[in-house]
Amino acid sequence: MRNLLVTGGAGFIGSNFVAYMLEHHPDYCIVVYDKLTYAGRLENLERVASHPNFAFVRGDICDMEAVRAAVIEHSIDTIVNFAAETHVDRSIMEPDAVVRTNVNGTWTLLEIAREHQLERFHQISTDEVYGAIPAPNRSREGDPLEPRSPYSASKAAAEHLVYAYHITYGLVTTMTRGSNNIGPYHYPEKAVPLFTTNAIDGVPLPIYGDGRQMRDYQYVLDHCEGIDIVLHKGQPGEAYNVGTEVETYNIDMAHKILDILGKPHTLIQHVTDRAGHDRRYALDCSKLRALGWRSRHTFDEALEKTVRWYVENQSWWRPIKSGEYLEYYRRQYAER
Ligand code: NAD
Ligand code: TYD
Repeated sequence: MRNLLVTGGAGFIGSNFVAYMLEHHPDYCIVVYDKLTYAGRLENLERVASHPNFAFVRGDICDMEAVRAAVIEHSIDTIVNFAAETHVDRSIMEPDAVVRTNVNGTWTLLEIAREHQLERFHQISTDEVYGAIPAPNRSREGDPLEPRSPYSASKAAAEHLVYAYHITYGLVTTMTRGSNNIGPYHYPEKAVPLFTTNAIDGVPLPIYGDGRQMRDYQYVLDHCEGIDIVLHKGQPGEAYNVGTEVETYNIDMAHKILDILGKPHTLIQHVTDRAGHDRRYALDCSKLRALGWRSRHTFDEALEKTVRWYVENQSWWRPIKSGEYLEYYRRQYAER
């Protein structure tokens, strides 16, 4: 493993992963391959742009010719696939883009990985593929996948393709199923950056339904470290859960954000619930811990660090919260 193609590397987790890898594996060459959708931003990669082992290629993972050209030109031996349409609410409004990128795009990458006999194909997946998990159960890697939203269904479909390529063609694959990430460069349509940036501006925080849905919010660099460990120690054909194993109610998360910022709790506004909203995700991460991984941040530490980043980096998110974003926000929230 030396020359990595990181698809979706201009997005939230991908850009943090690229910075993490260049710091921890300075001898690796990292090529980001990204379409730069609304969620992909070159600003996210500014801190690594001048690194001698970094390159950027703009392209769509559904474009087989362009993926092939990037793999050949950069002598790629490993693909790490972060590229995806990632927002559940958008996947409900417009499922076509989700199926196209998350399913067809993953298939395209697998075809190229097979054609060039790459050393490794790593798929970034999500705890959402297990579906809603009633307490006190926790999902283990061998559990059935029961996705319930267009987003999670597309991610599960991608996983099935990855596994099929491992079994059928002997492609060396690994997968990680991460819980909700929080941290720098998170597009402010997702709950934590949306609530934080709204709170900074004194704008209401839209809580879906009763707010008693539970998520395992982990710090993005802990997730990146888990991916790194699976890339180096994971078994071919296997999937690994990555999360803190601590779940928080959305309403409690919102209160904590307001407390960190010293804003009134009256900013919380309950709005119509998300269709098919999964009440709870919960992972058992013992399989990854057995490889030596530990989550380094508690939820409170991760949230505090994240909120501070948004306070200090308003020049990053203020331009995003204009234009297309405002149109999206109106469509998503105006009638709720
Ligand atoms: P993001 O939305 O911030 O970034 C996605 C990136 O993919 C963007 O840079 C975008 O431009 C790129 N992209 C989209 N369609 C593309 C295409 N057709 N071709 C090439 N590039 C394309 O997403 P994220 O939150 O960083 O998530 C990254 C990955 O991690 C996704 O696969 C997601 O399913 C998974 N994941 C996310 C979370 C989370 O909490 N955010 C948790 C678990 C797993
Ligand atoms: P989100 O960040 O969209 O991640 P996911 O749906 O993939 O878990 O949402 C996190 C939780 O917050 C989820 O239970 C939905 C909820 N939520 C709200 O209550 N209000 C919002 O405006 C958003 C975007 C999410």
